[in-house]
Amino acid sequence: MPEIEFSDRVAIVTGAGAGLGRDYALQLGKRGAKVVVNDLGGARDGTGAGKTAADQVVDEIKAAGGQAVPNYDDVSTTAGGENIVKTALDHFGKVDILINNAGILRDKTFVKMEENSWDAVLNVHLKAAYNVTRPAFINMRQNQYGRIILTSSVAGVMGNFGQANYGAAKMGLCGLTNVLKLEGAKYNINVNVILPSAGTRMTDDVMPPEMFERLKVEYITPAVLYMCSEQFRETGLYINAYAGYFSRSAILTGPGVAFKDLPTPEQIKENWDKIVDMGDAKYYEHVNEFMADVLGGKGLIG
Ligand code: NAI
Repeated sequence: MPEIEFSDRVAIVTGAGAGLGRDYALQLGKRGAKVVVNDLGGARDGTGAGKTAADQVVDEIKAAGGQAVPNYDDVSTTAGGENIVKTALDHFGKVDILINNAGILRDKTFVKMEENSWDAVLNVHLKAAYNVTRPAFINMRQNQYGRIILTSSVAGVMGNFGQANYGAAKMGLCGLTNVLKLEGAKYNINVNVILPSAGTRMTDDVMPPEMFERLKVEYITPAVLYMCSEQFRETGLYINAYAGYFSRSAILTGPGVAFKDLPTPEQIKENWDKIVDMGDAKYYEHVNEFMADVLGGKGLIG
């Protein structure tokens, strides 16, 4: 077995019937994990359903000598999330690794975006993270071990035209991670974010063909596998990955300006450049660290 291996580990990968999730599931299976391959098997916009996608990936894992079971539940329902985790518990007795990966797209400029497109995308990306992660988290807490990956996107972290629903959902996952990293810490549950870019059916009409070819899904998997491993001790990180490039994105806070007395709007205007200056910006692990800087330690106010 290679250094990063998953024997005796049980992994759930949602949306593992195609694209990125399929490769995560195959590679986890090759490195010894018992894998629940979840996929609803619908179209890119979330319509339809079918068993073939999940079944094929299970067959591929088994053909390579690994262990896997299919699950066809919809991650956007609480019952679906519970049943995905139950599938892992029934077949393999626990959950060690959860990769929340299932996704759909319904791009429209904001004024054209109907409520059903907003809700469908928020449900499959953000609500699903609640639906699947919560029952998995309960089991991980009992076992004092967990590795959770949430799949965000630069469309949310940085912005992309025509993806208001998707960007909002994907940024919501970063907020969820910021909280779960704290709630999971004492139970050895690490929660991290992957920000992938890869040529899949989700991107096949938005990327030029040569870029599509360069951005193979296989380039994302090494980072995800490391972040799911026992060796990986960090939590709350957002990691970019594509075409062999890996980096960290983070939310930083500038040093800002503290007024001793209630400022006027004119004083805000006068100080605006300093208020928004990001030189010496800092990453805060916890809101209390920020409050301590603002209210106490650094004496910014008082
Ligand atoms: P994909 O469309 O190839 O795969 C997504 C899979 O999720 C499909 O097999 C689909 O059937 C499944 N799925 C959709 N709704 C589901 C539901 N309700 N329940 C269960 N399964 C469901 O897409 P891709 O590119 O592999 O995307 C994977 C994740 O990566 C998504 O969360 C996506 O938003 C994210 N992502 C992808 C990027 C890219 O460049 N491909 C960029 C940034 C993020």
